[in-house]
Amino acid sequence: MPVISFLNQKGGVGKTTLAIHIADALTRRNHKTLLVDADPQGSALDWAAARQGEPRFPVIGLPRPSIHKELGVIAQGYAWTVIDGPPRVYEVARSAIMASDAVLIPVQPSPYDVWSANEILELFKESDIYRPDVRRAFVINRKIANTAIGRDVNEALSEYRLPVLKAAVCQRVSFADSATLGKTVFDVDAEGQAAREVMELVKEIERFVR
Ligand SMILES: Nc1ncnc2c1ncn2[C@@H]1O[C@H](COP(=O)(O)OP(=O)(O)OP(=O)(O)O)[C@@H](O)[C@H]1O
Ligand SMILES: [Mg+2]
Repeated sequence: MPVISFLNQKGGVGKTTLAIHIADALTRRNHKTLLVDADPQGSALDWAAARQGEPRFPVIGLPRPSIHKELGVIAQGYAWTVIDGPPRVYEVARSAIMASDAVLIPVQPSPYDVWSANEILELFKESDIYRPDVRRAFVINRKIANTAIGRDVNEALSEYRLPVLKAAVCQRVSFADSATLGKTVFDVDAEGQAAREVMELVKEIERFVR
């Protein structure tokens, strides 16, 4: 029953977008999935509320520093749990790490995102005392094809000595457009490029967590 978190202290890197899409992708791959919104902003809950009709998977709010204590009971019966982490709120992020089998750190191909990755690594130093086994990797989001920084971001991230997942998600308006209606890129075009990239990512995540 793997638990994965999307965490980065930096705001706006794609934690919520990737958490929602990976939860949807896992569901489409027939894994019973729970999405936990650990952000006091409640973006994933807002997304779920905007949706018309049946939800594809449940979204619950748990923006508290006790996630690691509560999740065992709450996530019982789910094959996968995906946590959408908060920016800044340090104690909640630390609790999400402690609750996780794997932490994925979305970064955009920008030097600012590469530099700010330092903050989450500081959090790992603390959580490592209790949970040194938590797997961790960067995920590149909003990649823009054929740009220098798009090519160089892997190299820039290599200084952190954490793996970078091979499957990157590109910059596409369909991510923002679909979210407005509580949908995902799968609802809009399940065969489209954006959906394919998310499927590649979810398969890599499944291999990474095992
Ligand atoms: N691959 C993408 N292509 C285009 N737009 C994207 C992509 N990923 C995220 N976005 C957009 O970027 C904005 C920020 O994304 P998101 O809310 O997922 O980030 P976040 O890390 O959860 O932010 P916060 O730290 O505030 O919680 C949103 O408007 C979202 O629609
Ligand atoms: Mg968010």
